[in-house]
Amino acid sequence: MKVLLLGSGGREHALARAIAKSTLLDKFWIAPGNPGTAALGENVKCAIDEPAQVLELARSLHPDLVVIGPEAPLVKGVADVLREAGYKVFGPGRLAARLEGSKAFAKTIMRQARVATAASVACCTLDEARDALQRFGAPYVVKQDGLAAGKGVVVTSDFDTAVAHAAACIEAMANPHEPAVVIEEFLDGPEASVFCICDGHDVVALPAAQDYKRAYDHNEGPNTGGMGAYSPLPWAPEDLARRTAQEIAVPVCNVLANQGCDFIGLLYVGLALTSRGPRVVEFNVRFGDPETQSVLERLDTDLLALLAAAADGNLAAAPQLKVSDEAVVNVVLAASGYPQAPVKGGVITGLDVASQVPGVHIIHAGTKVNDAGQLIANGGRVLSVVARGSDLSEARQRAYQAIQSIALENSHYRTDIAKF
Ligand code: AMP
Ligand code: GLY
Repeated sequence: MKVLLLGSGGREHALARAIAKSTLLDKFWIAPGNPGTAALGENVKCAIDEPAQVLELARSLHPDLVVIGPEAPLVKGVADVLREAGYKVFGPGRLAARLEGSKAFAKTIMRQARVATAASVACCTLDEARDALQRFGAPYVVKQDGLAAGKGVVVTSDFDTAVAHAAACIEAMANPHEPAVVIEEFLDGPEASVFCICDGHDVVALPAAQDYKRAYDHNEGPNTGGMGAYSPLPWAPEDLARRTAQEIAVPVCNVLANQGCDFIGLLYVGLALTSRGPRVVEFNVRFGDPETQSVLERLDTDLLALLAAAADGNLAAAPQLKVSDEAVVNVVLAASGYPQAPVKGGVITGLDVASQVPGVHIIHAGTKVNDAGQLIANGGRVLSVVARGSDLSEARQRAYQAIQSIALENSHYRTDIAKF
């Protein structure tokens, strides 16, 4: 099978690593990829958020399957343009991608699918938002409606801060008749991410993982894209993934299918495990980063076979999911100044030594090779150190042993990933 993977982050390097292991793979391109994916396939240039450019690339490469990594091309309709031209695609079309692109749309679908989630009100005006905030009470949860690269949600106990964020969301909204902001009930409890591979109707749920969103230890500091992740979750119910598929992903796929937009791709279900049971915090329409780096490492099933079967609308033909008993921990190394103002250009050394720790490999995210042939930081989250172990404690020990060999000036990482 000839495969084209779109994206350039840590998630895509992890996807590429899993796809490259497949016995079904004949030829592999990654657009635009990163120095990590270059070792697994051929990196090709493309502005992947531009549907016309992706179509042109597909017409020159003739892939049998296109796997779309990030949300931006999905929300822009890259999957639709490719499907209309006859290509097989893993990734939802523009309408289904609104599950991530619009919080208000996601809430409507959840209501129709009778999925347990936080009570919420979608607001067009500041008066509506103020009313809703008073009704729900503190802590306040205020969500910008559109894609906001992880910066659209404010959770605060301060009423004025909540109102100010709602006002900023309303100001940023071009159309005054569309809800600009969603106010919702606060959900208490630990969070888990469950990745559901969907073929439009059937669902295969991968093992649950936990992400660390705050920049610093003890969940302090600003929100980030995610500073580390681990799987399995010893504190979560054993049937969490299976129940998420049955009680959340399948009903959501059915509601969407009835509206004429089959969900073919990855439904990321972000859950809060509250005292009243699991509640959906958010949907994304692509694999999570950095959870993917941990979750895919635990799969003993051919990922490419699963993605291709889903893209065919026929997950029933896919091999049975097999999950390793091993634990995986990944720790993100972030550039100086991340997340506010990441510093690019620092030289990275020590990856060879780090990779020699048993069970460890390095996933590239924001890296680049400069003209002098040196590996340098090229983004906020620079790389992930991923470690397998017989249990979380061994995996954690290996990840932290390895990361100490890596040098990048003023870089930082959390020291409490998978620490209980
Ligand atoms: P979202 O972009 O919707 O995933 O929200 C980002 C983060 O904000 C989540 O991972 C949670 O940590 C937090 N959050 C979102 N919604 C709620 C809620 N209803 N109650 C508590 N925390 C929330
Ligand atoms: N790790 C959170 C996300 O991918 O949205």
